[in-house]
Amino acid sequence: MNSLSGKRILVTGAGSGIGRAAARMFHDRGAKLVLLGRRLAPLQETLLNAEHVALDHADDAAVAAFALGCGPLDGMFLAAGELKTGSVEATPASAFEAMIAANLRGPWLLTHHLGPNLQVGGSVVLVGSNIGIRAIPESAAYSVAKAGVHMLAKVLALEWAPRGIRCNAIAPGPVHTDMVEARLAGSADPEGDLARLATVNPLKRMGTETEVAALAAHLLSDESRWTTGAVMVIDGGADAVY
Ligand SMILES: NC(=O)c1ccc[n+]([C@@H]2O[C@H](COP(=O)([O-])OP(=O)(O)OC[C@H]3O[C@@H](n4cnc5c(N)ncnc54)[C@H](OP(=O)(O)O)[C@@H]3O)[C@@H](O)[C@H]2O)c1
Repeated sequence: MNSLSGKRILVTGAGSGIGRAAARMFHDRGAKLVLLGRRLAPLQETLLNAEHVALDHADDAAVAAFALGCGPLDGMFLAAGELKTGSVEATPASAFEAMIAANLRGPWLLTHHLGPNLQVGGSVVLVGSNIGIRAIPESAAYSVAKAGVHMLAKVLALEWAPRGIRCNAIAPGPVHTDMVEARLAGSADPEGDLARLATVNPLKRMGTETEVAALAAHLLSDESRWTTGAVMVIDGGADAVY
């Protein structure tokens, strides 16, 4: 099993879903954790034995202030994000900007301000999406933001390589978290939508938070030390087929 022993790792979105599963897994694998989200209580519920930081990752001043006092980091798993549906024509500028803030501005600010805190041998994993690679209807702003996240990982891989720091993105397919629940709540046919989400890939099921967290753990550990600038799809094979 890949070890994260002694590594100090920031996990965003750690109060639920994929971020929560990841925080608990990284803890079990020996990491010291800093957990970030907007609400404190869910972060404490994820793991009491950690540092907890409640802030909006799209708030430049708040992220800058946090970075000043944060101290050295060996890794970051930037899982915080939000999904609002809609086509390009149905999405007003304010909703587009909210999707960019929640999904792209946040990771940009965190890597911008915390880059100097990363230690030699460090690793950063950004969370994109398989719908940031292939388009589906009705998720326009989210998909565009996630495509930006994938490119951010590549740019950072280039910029940080001379310092011995890696950056990769993962692009999950559907995992049944609060995010998917919220999407289904707005659907005219939630059961049908859930069944479709589970069967669009060759493995014919949705992923689990733990499966996604395990890929992130691999990318944060030293066993992946020649992997950087990659966008790794984890989606039951959906990206491989029409
Ligand atoms: N579930 C899927 O099917 C799926 C598929 C592909 C990619 N993803 C991506 O995987 C990541 C995790 O998603 P999830 O499914 O685990 O969703 P989730 O359960 O809704 O978790 C999202 C987390 O992000 C935090 N967050 C949202 N906006 C924030 C902000 N502005 N600042 C700080 N924290 C913020 C939320 O906590 P607070 O509300 O307390 O801030 C929440 O804990 C997201 O980036 C998502 O886009 C998910």
